[in-house]
Amino acid sequence: MNAHQADDLDTAERLYREVLELHAAQPDALHYLGVLCHQQGRSDEGVELIRTALKITPRHPDAHNNLGNIHKECGRPAEAEACYRRALECASEHHNAQGNLAVVLEAQDRLDEAFEAYGTLLQQAPDDARGHYLLGLFLRNHAQNMEHLEQSAECFRRAFEVDSRNLRALEALGVTLYALKRHDEARQVYRDWLAREPENPVPRHMLAACGGADAPSRADDDYVRELFDGFADSFDEQLLKNLDYRAPQVLAAALEGVLPAAHGGLDVLDAGCGTGLCAPLMRAHARHLVGVDLSGGMVDKARLRGGYDALEVAELTSYLQAHPDAYDLVLSADTLVYFGRLEEVLAAAHAALRPDGWLGFTLEAMADESGELEITPSGRYRHGRGYVERVLASSGFGDVRIQADALRREAGQAVAGWVVLAQRQP
Ligand SMILES: C[S@@+](CC[C@H](N)C(=O)[O-])C[C@H]1O[C@@H](n2cnc3c(N)ncnc32)[C@H](O)[C@@H]1O
Repeated sequence: MNAHQADDLDTAERLYREVLELHAAQPDALHYLGVLCHQQGRSDEGVELIRTALKITPRHPDAHNNLGNIHKECGRPAEAEACYRRALECASEHHNAQGNLAVVLEAQDRLDEAFEAYGTLLQQAPDDARGHYLLGLFLRNHAQNMEHLEQSAECFRRAFEVDSRNLRALEALGVTLYALKRHDEARQVYRDWLAREPENPVPRHMLAACGGADAPSRADDDYVRELFDGFADSFDEQLLKNLDYRAPQVLAAALEGVLPAAHGGLDVLDAGCGTGLCAPLMRAHARHLVGVDLSGGMVDKARLRGGYDALEVAELTSYLQAHPDAYDLVLSADTLVYFGRLEEVLAAAHAALRPDGWLGFTLEAMADESGELEITPSGRYRHGRGYVERVLASSGFGDVRIQADALRREAGQAVAGWVVLAQRQP
């Protein structure tokens, strides 16, 4: 267990197996080996091991909770819910299981029950930083009025008060204060954070996004890495953020309209692949499907999810520039929103495509369609339709098709986006 906690998974696995050779029904070895198998992408084996452990010690709340986590992280919220409820039957004040229960209820869109479950957690454990943070996200995700946003900001503030390592709570606080039009307070959150951590790219970027410093022409690589490596670790946030997230589906549907019927013959690049949500949607078209992303944490998750022939940790523009004439299709869901100016990356995409190859990507839409681009207080950029058309044309693309669609929700509101397709001319 010491090796496991120190993340030395190979040693831990060998030792758990040695224990099981001596004593095949040792429940802790079965249970923790199950957790370890899941961490290494062998989730089915993990489920079986923990189920075996639970036959031997049926009233083990941690084992039920960990079994629930595997189901939750494999996208089976109903099975996860049943496990968390069993954990709570064994130990009614199991805070971790209570928080997890709230998350999977929210993921199943059972909002009243989820709200009640967060409430129970914070009644039992008023200093549970994760509970305050998750309730803050809940209130913000489903906000119906300003009061919900006010309460959400209070939750993020409290989460940071009880655990000052919870920097994601601080970032969420800044974004929420800005949404409440408390702009000076939002900027002050980032200034204080920068004073404590002058090298941290997150508050630097967010301060600029709130107009407190000059906006960069593109989110810098350190910011993207820091943001997404942290995000990759949190299955809860991924699960909850993806509730109304449709960019991969909407982009794939638009591409179906221009690509030949799926014949598995294309060389495809998923540019900014994240945790790999586009892979299953594009797999049938691909002879060779490559995912590239700047965040090693996200690429690790994409590797566990599977579906790619190759995955690379690299900056997108340089990667495209290094692979001329290599792809029949380049797609990029919700990634160019971290790029301000698009000239360089679209020229690189053009060069990486073969003649007749398609490029497909999503952007957030600037309300003023004639504007070029703007950075928003969420840290992402919005682009004007005319600007996108001009850059595509000057990069050599033709047959440009841009449709408006809502790609996600933020603070209870649909975020307007563009779904863009363009073809490299023969
Ligand atoms: C919001 S996620 C979207 C991921 C995935 N396409 C999806 O739809 O689920 C954006 C991804 O873009 C990646 N990214 C942003 N800027 C990048 C860059 N310059 N080079 C490579 N990856 C980048 C981030 O690391 C992150 O994983």
